[in-house]
Parts: sequence; structure tokens; C-alpha cells
Amino acid sequence: MIVVSGIQPTGKPHLGNYLGAIKNYVKLQDEAVANNGKCLIFLADLHAISMPHNPAELHAATLEMVATLVACGLDPSKTVLFNQAQVPAHAELQWLLMGTARMGWLNRMTQWKDKAGKNREGQSAALFSYPVLQAADVLLYQATHVPVGDDQKQHLELARDIAQKFNNDFASEEDPVFTLPDPFIPETAARIMSLRDGSKKMSKSDPSDMSRISLTDDADTMAQKVKKAKTDPEPLPSEVAGLAERPEALNLVSIYAALAETTAEQVLADHGGAGFGQFKPALAELMVSVLSPIRDRFVELKDDREQLDAILARGAAQAREQGTPTLDAAYKALGLVRG
Ligand code: TRP
Repeated sequence: MIVVSGIQPTGKPHLGNYLGAIKNYVKLQDEAVANNGKCLIFLADLHAISMPHNPAELHAATLEMVATLVACGLDPSKTVLFNQAQVPAHAELQWLLMGTARMGWLNRMTQWKDKAGKNREGQSAALFSYPVLQAADVLLYQATHVPVGDDQKQHLELARDIAQKFNNDFASEEDPVFTLPDPFIPETAARIMSLRDGSKKMSKSDPSDMSRISLTDDADTMAQKVKKAKTDPEPLPSEVAGLAERPEALNLVSIYAALAETTAEQVLADHGGAGFGQFKPALAELMVSVLSPIRDRFVELKDDREQLDAILARGAAQAREQGTPTLDAAYKALGLVRG
């Protein structure tokens, strides 16, 4: 079991990042350790330059996300935690895979289409070839499990296609260069929506701070945001089907379930019939009890530059070592001779 995943250094980590991705990493980290496997989690800082970005903010955001990951329970002694920029093999392998990836495959990527919109000609070549770097990220380590959200499934399928074609074209069946990775989309993957609009994902770029719970919010702020969260006047139903046309209610129930590590069904079995005047304080209390310890650890770590640098340096050294055999094999398979 080799778990590999990347997370964009977005800055301002929020509840959606925690429940949607990070919590899952922690679970898989522990499974990997228990199974004698490996877990590698990295900050996708190389991916961040595919869109206009602020160089002065990129490293700060990277460090902030590292502090968040550790505060949430990723343990640098169990997980190889690093940023791509310190492991040149990611960029090298991307280039080697560019000979295998097809323009047509990349043209079909929905994230490319969404991000480029009507202005494809004006986008960076990095945005177009972004999924090839993502393929390199996982193929470099022979990943078996790649925890991702639904929106990244297509990129993972592309990584499989690239691996398969490369193996086919340049390796023998008995001795493939790459393992075909599987996306690992947990059934309970929490898709956390904005507190102001149940149809939009919770996001750091939403102009309203009330739309998201930041992992740095103090207890009062969290409680206020939950209290002010948009809802409807109906009490909670006793079954999930009753939430179908109620995105804001569904969101609060999903958040509750994810924080309590239970199902929406169970939450409704316990709270069905309650109005939001009753349910919101219960949610706020649960949220504060789960997130306060994380916040405390985060605040302690976020300005400890020395420790954060040390975590990344150590992770990068381990990642460089673990990626070397596959990178060497890829060069060799292509007939590229180095020294
Ligand atoms: N593209 C992913 C995202 O936006 C981040 C990412 C980069 C990633 N490389 C990866 C995820 C490799 C999984 C595996 O969320």
C-alpha cells in the first residue's frame, strides 16, 4: 500500500479542506503504517504556478498548509511530508511523460476546460499540462492509493492511461516501469459547502468570511458563523431523503456527521424534528470541541519557521530517495543516458 496525494498550498485552510481531504490523509497514513506501506503527502507548489500567482505569497501559503496538515494529525515521522519544489524528480518525470501523454487526452480534461473558459489561447502551457505533472507525482512513487476528491478522478484516470501507454511502448510486460494507480475516493468524502450558499463549495476565495469556518477561527467566531449560517425555516427531517431540496440544511447535517464521524442518517435519527434554533448550538459545540485542539496546535506551529523548514527538508530528502529508482528506470526505458 503506497498512499500518495498532493494538496494545493491555498493559504487560509478551512473546514472544507479538513473534512474533505486532510482527515482522510490521516486515516490512510495510519493504515499505511499498520500495513507496512508508505504514505507520501506533498504540497503541490509546482502546480500553483499554472495560474497567475503571487510569488511572495506562495512559500508562506506552503508553510501554512504544512502547519495545518501537522496540526490535523499528519505525523512527519509516519508520513513523508514535503513540497514538490524540493524534489526535482517531479518536474523531470513530467517531461519524460510529456512524450507519452496525448494532446487529445489533455484537451478532454474538464478542469482544463473549466479553468481556461473561453480563453484557451491565453492560458499557460503549464495549465494545459497540469495533469501530466499530477501523473508524475503519483507514478514516481509507484502509488497504489491516491486519495482525491471527485473533481480529481479524471486526472487520476489520465495518470493510469499515461502509465499504461508508457509501459506498453517502452517496457516489457514482466517488468513494467509504472504501477497503475487507483483513485481512492472515500464513501464518506465530505463535500463541505459555503455556509451562505449550499450550492457553492466552501472556499478560501469566497469574499464573505462568514461563508467558511477557518481553522484559525476562535470558538466564539465559529459559534457565530454557525448561528448565522443560512438555513430554511423547516425543522430537520428524520430521513436523508427529506434534505433533497434543502442544500443548506443538508450541508449543516453533513458537517455534523463528518465531525462526529457518523452518517447523515444517524444525525437525523438523533436530531430529526429539531429546529435550527436547537440544532445549530449543538453543531457549534461539536465543532469547537473537534477543532479547538487543531487550532491550538496550528497557532503554535505556524510561526515556527525552523521546525516547518526542518519537516519539509526531511520529507524532501526521503521523497528524493524513494523516487530515484522509478525516475532512473523511466530515463533508461526511453533510451536517455545520464553520465
Ligand atoms: N490537482 C490536485 C488538486 O487540485 C492536487 C494534486 C497535485 C494531486 N498532484 C496530485 C492530488 C497528485 C493527488 C495526487 O486537488
